[in-house]
Amino acid sequence: MPNDTPETPPAKLWGGRFSGQTDALVEAFNASIDFDRRLYREDIAGSIAHARMLARQGIIADADRDAIVDGLVAIREEIEAGRFEFRLDREDIHLNIEAALTERIGDAGRRLHTARSRNDQVATDTRLFVRAACDEACEALRSMRLALLELAEREADTVIPGYTHLQRAQPILLAHHLLAYEAMFTRDTERFSQARARANVLPLGSGALAGVTYDIDRESVARELGFEAISTNSLDAVADRDFVVDYHAAAALSMVHLSRLAEEVILWATAEFGFVDIADAFSTGSSIMPQKKNPDVAELARGKSARVIGNLVQSLTLLKGQPLAYNKDNQEDKEPLFDSVDSLLISVRVMAAMMPALIFDRERGRAAAVANFALATDIADYLAKRGVPFREAHEAVGKLVARCEAAGQTFDDLSLEDYRDAHPAFERDVLALDIEAALAARNVPGGTGPQAVADARIAARERLEGETRTP
Ligand code: ARG
Repeated sequence: MPNDTPETPPAKLWGGRFSGQTDALVEAFNASIDFDRRLYREDIAGSIAHARMLARQGIIADADRDAIVDGLVAIREEIEAGRFEFRLDREDIHLNIEAALTERIGDAGRRLHTARSRNDQVATDTRLFVRAACDEACEALRSMRLALLELAEREADTVIPGYTHLQRAQPILLAHHLLAYEAMFTRDTERFSQARARANVLPLGSGALAGVTYDIDRESVARELGFEAISTNSLDAVADRDFVVDYHAAAALSMVHLSRLAEEVILWATAEFGFVDIADAFSTGSSIMPQKKNPDVAELARGKSARVIGNLVQSLTLLKGQPLAYNKDNQEDKEPLFDSVDSLLISVRVMAAMMPALIFDRERGRAAAVANFALATDIADYLAKRGVPFREAHEAVGKLVARCEAAGQTFDDLSLEDYRDAHPAFERDVLALDIEAALAARNVPGGTGPQAVADARIAARERLEGETRTP
């Protein structure tokens, strides 16, 4: 760094009251430029809106505004072209841009920070960032929901066992199982929309903590930056990072959902389950075991959920001990935020991309769906529908299961007489009870019956198509 030798100490923008130099360790510790440079676009947008407002209000001259806006646009281009020198001695993105602006345009640059503090500035930048991140999350979740729906359409007739306690329970349609995840990701989308709405409030104009002494027009800044409202308490505005917590909370729960889906894919791809083969493009090999085909994508998605959950806890812990108003602790909100944004987006996108690569073994799914007496509930229901109290029916069928198990048989091996031994209310039509009948019996709203699931698929598609897309 050219100006960073001890002989020529860099001037700090806040250096007026200082005569001694900052300790090198402190400088490194204090600086956030290595990561908050990611906020350059938000910072420049906020500064442009602020400068325009200052000129409209007669606080700075129009010529200064023009120099500021042109200078900031040029700096943005430099950053995007990779030509901007980010300097550690200039601490953070706000001071890096302001100092570079002043180098470029002189005194006009020194006027930009009128009626503003880095405290309301960074809160504004971070809100703009979170707002965009919520939109990106909704878009990624949308691709996931679409992928699940398309897989549910492709596998409309595929049957698998449904589980409770990870024990085979009742036959279900795979499409029903997939749409369960679609429902989770739809709720996640709602949560991100709500997080977006709460983030979409302008803190700028709160100053360092107490408001500013100029005749500013906050509403016009809010309009220019697309904020729905202005913050109503200056102390809260600079100290509040609830919107970061909201983002993390929505992200963490989405990642939990993704992790559950990932876990199912991992289980399904085992030799033990054998329901799914993951196409080569989404599988990985072992460096020692030539036969291996590993579900790394799903495992990484499951693993990344740990980070995002950790980041949620970090964001809460960061706030819990802070007195009002702004404290430097809040600089620590950024890396975990960026990490959650990146982890969520890549995990959701890659898992969505993997969905079509899941090749289901339909015969194996069907065989597993009837094995282990999965129709037992239906047989008990059969009796109950003929007037037998359900508890009595449950016991009769339980005895049939025990009898079959002792003889190494399945329900298919039973004759009508065997059934009648267990309960006299059984008729010949009990022998016709099969997967199709079991599924068709569940055409209740929200059930796994083929008609109910077809309706759910249509509803999911309508929901996806009817949604207004923010970005
Ligand atoms: N880099 C700081 C942050 O991320 C910017 C605000 C600094 N404000 C201050 N008063 N030191 O929070």
